[in-house]
Amino acid sequence: MPCCHLPELAAHETVFSVDLSSVSFGPGVLAEAGPVLAHTGARRVALFTDPGVGTLEPVATVAASVRGAGLDLAIFDQVRVEPTNASFAEAAVFARQGRFDGYVSVGGGSVMDTAKAAALYATHPADFLAYVNAPVGEGRPVPGPLPPHVACPTTCGTGSECTGIAVFDHLPLAVKTGIASRLLRPTRALVDPTCTRSLPAMVVAASGFDVLCHALESFTARPYTARPRPVSPQARPMSQGQNPWSDVGSREALRLAGLYLVRAVRDAEDTEARHGLSWAATLAGIAFGNSGVHLPHAMSYAVAGKVREYRCPGYPQAEAMVPHGISVVVNAPSVFRFLAPTLPARHLEAARLLSPEVNDARPGDASGLLAAVLSRMMRETGVPPGTRALGYTEGDVVDLARGALMQTRLVDNAPVPVDELRMRALFEGTLADG
Ligand SMILES: [Fe+2]
Repeated sequence: MPCCHLPELAAHETVFSVDLSSVSFGPGVLAEAGPVLAHTGARRVALFTDPGVGTLEPVATVAASVRGAGLDLAIFDQVRVEPTNASFAEAAVFARQGRFDGYVSVGGGSVMDTAKAAALYATHPADFLAYVNAPVGEGRPVPGPLPPHVACPTTCGTGSECTGIAVFDHLPLAVKTGIASRLLRPTRALVDPTCTRSLPAMVVAASGFDVLCHALESFTARPYTARPRPVSPQARPMSQGQNPWSDVGSREALRLAGLYLVRAVRDAEDTEARHGLSWAATLAGIAFGNSGVHLPHAMSYAVAGKVREYRCPGYPQAEAMVPHGISVVVNAPSVFRFLAPTLPARHLEAARLLSPEVNDARPGDASGLLAAVLSRMMRETGVPPGTRALGYTEGDVVDLARGALMQTRLVDNAPVPVDELRMRALFEGTLADG
């Protein structure tokens, strides 16, 4: 046949995209922030951080490096931890007024996400809801590139430095949502694993289980081939579903989490473990930045959003709050007990990567095995085993299930469809776990 024939449109996706993150990793790397920004042509740089991190060494190092490279620097140190539509808008005003041509963020996921949003609205002004994911916002595509953004994570969890996602609480609807675009991905991540040295044990546990769940959910997400083929390459979603590229990062991140998570929580002096967990966070960020996460994260937004009394050691005690990684992992044993029989080989492989001593297990054992490995690791790190330990009861199940189902992008990325009854059953499972 002549080669000019167009291929017939397949009903399902046949292509996956590899969106690379630029990462520099290692002790001392934060001192490279200035030269990296100068190389992009930036001259007037905004540094974003939060009041807690703002006084610490990483911010001083980055600020000195930016000034040392001959660039102008303005610091915004009022990033809200767990940002909201209002705090994103406030950061955007700072960015717009400063007419910056470069951004650097130093802190956790909240800081990096706020810098992404501020750069977006300062560069491409629009109504706040224009770029916000549907159904909360209009989900309009970001119209063009953003100025260079160097992201410097100081925890070992969110992976935000490798993703084009900015998450916030939309206060008018009391729901967590976000903005997702490849154009929001930071230009370069500078990951210095020594930043985790001073983190309290429970902060390492929460962020470590966030890493583990990023990897596990990427590894078990709905395969990219199950999506309909997009109408154009630009319409291919960033969260493509599980694919061969995301598997590369997920597998290694799971292996490292199995080796190092418990050790990193138990001993702040265990440099090998804390550095290993930082690298796992970066790999898992690259993986889920291409594949997306699913049910444990969808459920986490309801668990974190409806908390009444729970306070976590190692975190500010003023308000009831469930740290993100804990609100995710409490759902994981229940979710993976349910999913393992639908994809036994993949769940068994994940259990083996996390815990090599289960090597002799067979596919028939998959159902409870991964959940048991997770529960054991949670016990060994003192993390609450389920949602009952966070103060929830059977009377909350309907509400929690409805809240989780609002996260349609994440629920649709699960390997099997989940309706309201199933979601309730998953939450009942989290109560049974403790
Ligand atoms: Fe997460």
